[in-house]
Amino acid sequence: MTLMDKIKETAAFLQDKGISAPEFGLILGSGLGELAEEVENAIVVDYADIPNWGQSTVVGHAGKLVYGNLAGRKVLALQGRFHFYEGNPMEVVTFPVRVMKALGATGIIVTNAAGGIEFGPGSLMLISDHINMTGQHPLIGENLDEFGPRFPDMSDAYTGAYRARARKVAAELELELQEGVYLGVTGPSYETPAEIRAFRTLGASAVGMSTVPEVIVAAHSGLKVLGISAITNFAAGFQEELNHEEVVEVTQGIKENFKNFVKAVLAEL
Ligand code: HPA
Repeated sequence: MTLMDKIKETAAFLQDKGISAPEFGLILGSGLGELAEEVENAIVVDYADIPNWGQSTVVGHAGKLVYGNLAGRKVLALQGRFHFYEGNPMEVVTFPVRVMKALGATGIIVTNAAGGIEFGPGSLMLISDHINMTGQHPLIGENLDEFGPRFPDMSDAYTGAYRARARKVAAELELELQEGVYLGVTGPSYETPAEIRAFRTLGASAVGMSTVPEVIVAAHSGLKVLGISAITNFAAGFQEELNHEEVVEVTQGIKENFKNFVKAVLAEL
C-alpha cells in the first residue's frame, strides 16, 4: 500500500467512527495529555485499533486519540505521539499530521516537554522557529503532491498570526510566556554539555526530541502551526543531572497553566 492509500484508509476508518472535520489537531507531549480529558462529547479511539497507526511506548504518553469539543472548537487530540527514537520511521512519526490534514483540519497545536537553554524549568515557551538537528527529514522520498510541493517554504512554519494571538491571550491571562527557537534532536540520550553549548551558539532557546518532523510535514501540507514547549529542566551542563522522572514531575507543575493557556488560545485561533 502506498503512503497515500494508508492515509486515506486511516481517515476513512476515523470518519466511520464519527470523526469528521476537526478544525484543529492537538498533539500533546510528555505529561501534557491530560488536556484531552477535558474534551466534551468525546469519541475516544485506542491507538492499537487504528490502522496504519504507530504505538506509543513512552511513560507519560497514553496512546489514545480523542475527538470532540474543546473551548468551543472541534479538535482531534493525540494523547501521546510517536518518536523517531522509539524506532518509528519518519513516515509513522508524521502520519497523524497527514491524517489530520486529510480529515480537514486547518491548524495544529503541537506541544512538547523540552530542555531549557535560554529559559528555566517551569517556563512556557511559544516556538517561533526550529533548527532541525535530527539528521533526518520526513519529506525524503516521493513527494505527495496532493499535500504540498517538493520544496516547501518553511519561512512561516510556526504561523506568525497564531503566535500573535497566543501572545495576546497570555497577556490577558497574565501568564508569563517566553518565545524562542526549538532545536530538535533524535534522542534518546539527553545531550552532552558540549552539545548544549554548541546549540546555544547556534541560536537555540530549548532542545527536545520531537516536534520538528511533525511541523515540517504540517508546513508542507499548508497546515498552520502553533508550537508550545513546556520547559522541564535546564539543558545538560546547566544542572547536575537529567532524568525523565524530573521531566514528568516538572510538567505536573506546569500543566494547569498549560491547559488554561491552550484552551484560551484555541478559542481565539
Ligand atoms: N533534552 C532533550 N529533550 C528533552 C529535555 C532535554 O533536556 N527535557 C525534556 N525533553
